[in-house]
Amino acid sequence: MNIALIGSGGREHALCNKINESKLVDKIVCFPGNAGTASMATNVEVDILNFKKILRLIKLHKIDLVIVGPEEPLVKGIVDYLKKNKIKVFGPSKYASKLEGSKAFMKIICKKNKIPTAKFKICTKQIQVVRFLKNCNLPIVVKADGLAAGKGVTICKTREQIVKSTEEIFRGKFKSSKKVVLEEFLTGEEVSYFAVVDNNNFKFFGSAQDHKRVFEKDRGPNTGGMGAYSPAPIVTKKLEKKIISKIIRPTLKALRNKKNPYNGFLYVGLMIKNNEPYLIEYNIRMGDPECQVILPRLKTDIVKIFVNAIENKLKNLKIQWKKQKSMTIVLCAKGYPGTHKKNLQIKNLGKIRLSSSDFIYHAGTKLYNGQLRSVGGRVLNITSIGNSFSKIRKKIIFNIKKLRWNDGFYRKDIGWRIIDK
Ligand code: AMP
Ligand code: GLY
Repeated sequence: MNIALIGSGGREHALCNKINESKLVDKIVCFPGNAGTASMATNVEVDILNFKKILRLIKLHKIDLVIVGPEEPLVKGIVDYLKKNKIKVFGPSKYASKLEGSKAFMKIICKKNKIPTAKFKICTKQIQVVRFLKNCNLPIVVKADGLAAGKGVTICKTREQIVKSTEEIFRGKFKSSKKVVLEEFLTGEEVSYFAVVDNNNFKFFGSAQDHKRVFEKDRGPNTGGMGAYSPAPIVTKKLEKKIISKIIRPTLKALRNKKNPYNGFLYVGLMIKNNEPYLIEYNIRMGDPECQVILPRLKTDIVKIFVNAIENKLKNLKIQWKKQKSMTIVLCAKGYPGTHKKNLQIKNLGKIRLSSSDFIYHAGTKLYNGQLRSVGGRVLNITSIGNSFSKIRKKIIFNIKKLRWNDGFYRKDIGWRIIDK
C-alpha cells in the first residue's frame, strides 16, 4: 500500500516510523513531513489546509490510505472532503471533530449525557460573563470555544482577569472563537488516555502523562508539551473501567445517536481526583508528545489497525503492547513558547548511538544542504524505552548531552511525579 501522512511534528515522525515498520507498506509520502520523515518517506511541501492540492497530490502519488496527524485539517473537514472524492482516510469527520473544535459542543454533550466534567457556562456576550461573576468561586478557567493552537485557555485567579480574557476573545483574539466557556477549576492529577475508535467499537491505545509547563517543577507558561511518559501508573484497571463507562462510552454513543459516529484516534484529557475521572478536554488525534512515547510500545502493525478502524472491524483485532516503559524529552529552541530564533544549526545528531530502544523524533527541523536546522519551537524528541523510568531518563539526558546546540533547552525533570517523589 502507498500511505500519505499529513503533518510535520514529532507526532508525525513517530507515526511515519511505525508505518514504515509495517509489512503492508510500499511507499510513504508526507505532506509536508520534516527532516526526520525524509529518511524513510518522500516529503512533499504543501499547505495542509489546501485540500484541493492535497487531493491532486494523493492521486499523483497513487495513495491508497491517508492518515491525518494534526487537528486543524480534521476540524476543517479534510476527512469528509477526501471521502467524497473516494479516498480512504483514517480520522474523524468534520462533525465528530467538534469534540476538539468546539469546547461548547463538547461540554453540551457532557451535560446531556451526565459525563463527569467541570461545571461550566457558555457565554456569547460580555453581559453574560458579568452576571456569572456575581456568584462564582475563583479561580475560573476561561476557554476560547474554537481551536487556538494551545493558547485559548487561561486560568483566572481574579474577576478582573476573567473580564480581560473574555473581552479579548469576544474582540476576536482567536478567529475561530465567538463563544467563551467559563469553567470551574478542577484540582487533581492530569492524565491522557487514548483510544482508537471505529463506528461501532473502540480499543485502548495507551496512556501517558505530558508536562505542559515550560520550566522544571511545572512553572512558567503552558506549551504544546515538554515531555511525556507511558504508561501512566495512575490509570489502574479500576480507574480505566470508570473512564470507559462514565466518559468514553456515553460520548461515542451520543455521536452515534446523532448519526455521526466517531472514527479515528481519540485523546481523552482527564483530571483524576479521589480516584474519579473528570473530562477536561477531548482531542481528535494523537497527542504530541504522547504519541512519541506510546508508539514505541506498540507491537501490532499500525497499518492493520488503521485498515480495521476504517472498515469497522476493530472488535476482533487484538492490539498488543510491549511491557517496557517509555519516555520522551522535548528539546526546544530558547525562548519557546514565546519568540525564539529559527534556522539554528544543530550539530552532532549523528554522534548519538541509537540502540533498538532509542528513538529520535524530529519536530521543527529541516535539512538545508545536508545541515540540520531548527525551524520551530519544539525541535527534537529524544525518546527511549526500558524497564525503569529513572534509568530511561538518565539515558535520554546522556544522549541529549552529545548534541551541540547552545540555542536549545529542555526539562530535566520529566517524570518527576513517578521518579523524584
Ligand atoms: P485544554 O486546552 O482544555 O486542554 O486546557 C489546557 C490545560 O489547562 C489543561 O491541560 C489543564 O492543565 C488546564 N485546564 C483546562 N481546564 C481546566 C479545568 N477546568 N480545571 C483545571 N485545569 C484546567
Ligand atoms: N500534548 C498535548 C496535546 O497534544 O494536545
